[in-house]
Amino acid sequence: MRLFLAVVLLALATASCCQGAELSLDISGQKVYDQLIELAKFSDDANPAVTRILFTDQDLNARAFVKQLMRDAGLVIREDTIGNIYGILEGQDAQAPAVGTGSHCDAIPLAGAFDGTLGVIGGIAALKALKEAGFVPKVPIEAIMFTSEEPTRFGLSCSGSRAIAGMLDGDYLSTLRDVNGSDYLAAAQRAGYGADTYEAMLRGARLTDKDLGAFVELHIEQGPLLGEGRAGDWRGDGHRGPAALAVTFYGDGGHAGALLMPYRNDASLAASEFALELERLVLATESIDTVGTVGRWEVSPNAVNSVPREAALEIDIRDIDADRRDRLVADVLEAAKKVAERRKVRVTSRIINQDPPAISGKAVVDAISASVEELSYSSKHMVSRAYHDSTFMAQVAPTAMVFVPCHNGWSHRPDEHATPEDIERGVRVLALTLARLAGAASGEHSEL
Ligand code: GLV
Ligand code: MN
Ligand code: MN
Repeated sequence: MRLFLAVVLLALATASCCQGAELSLDISGQKVYDQLIELAKFSDDANPAVTRILFTDQDLNARAFVKQLMRDAGLVIREDTIGNIYGILEGQDAQAPAVGTGSHCDAIPLAGAFDGTLGVIGGIAALKALKEAGFVPKVPIEAIMFTSEEPTRFGLSCSGSRAIAGMLDGDYLSTLRDVNGSDYLAAAQRAGYGADTYEAMLRGARLTDKDLGAFVELHIEQGPLLGEGRAGDWRGDGHRGPAALAVTFYGDGGHAGALLMPYRNDASLAASEFALELERLVLATESIDTVGTVGRWEVSPNAVNSVPREAALEIDIRDIDADRRDRLVADVLEAAKKVAERRKVRVTSRIINQDPPAISGKAVVDAISASVEELSYSSKHMVSRAYHDSTFMAQVAPTAMVFVPCHNGWSHRPDEHATPEDIERGVRVLALTLARLAGAASGEHSEL
């Protein structure tokens, strides 16, 4: 099994304030925090909830906000055809593979202000501080805002980073539709991105190892282990390979009063039985690292006096062990067929994605560790368990992540929260890591 190790930062009351003899960085956790709260205002739901869906008006407002921060930081802005936004701190050698950082600004319905956004705003803050400190990198450093890490609009996660990594098929992408029947390319074009064809759009976003030499993503932990000080007990050795499935049950529907029970084939009851069977299959693995969720559930016609005719589900399955995950996916699809037979309904199923685990880059982990040490923070090596753009960036360049604790490990909910102090530690580690990976051009900070 391939490994994806991520360095996790633990808050330390005795945190040092020094950034090495050569480099004094003006980084304020409070300022980054305030910018995150400002960004949260671009939301389709009232704060503290944040809902920001790909290529909607609020997504475009957030993009404008991010670009303004990039401009204020003195970065050069580039946008690719799928809408990934790059803020570039130019290096001595403009042609050399860059060092990248970044994350996403889209937010699932009723999410919080910190998921993804910390990696974008924190990345810009890190580059701004480096630039203002007079640090000139040997190679360019890029703060990236990735398009649509969340799968909300088209059912596919990480479309921006998948495109960068060449792991997104244009034919497949062209089959996806949002709830209004709109396709991805049309939505991208309306937002001012896209190209004439899917293929051209994906080509325009592609990066190789000639473009990118290393990548590091700053993110909130999204789990409870750090806050409870139990990270050491949960040390793992793999990155959860995520898979998503769509399963739809079709019955014949009917009148909720007149259709007697023996004559029914209720699609929603089949879906209910299937959801319980999914839970049973997951628990039967007896692995704490295996998880399965029926997170999306649409019943039609969804009327109180109608026997459900259709139940469309989306299922998320993750495991650190790709083989066990794949066996579970096969068992779940088989269970859907068996339930359909038993319940005399029809069923269709489709694998939306079944992504491989990724390996972290030793050089990046080492650079993070050295930076943590320089700052006298405490840290743990830990597994990345959620979806992250890093999963795909790791296919392009050596990649690792820096996590900071979030309150109670809460995420994907309005009360998601990280403190200004933890944010500052994360951004400081990020800045020093980027400086290490990019190297200093000859001159003032060349001893870094
Ligand atoms: C992304 O937020 C995920 O699903 O892990
Ligand atoms: Mn998320
Ligand atoms: Mn995220």
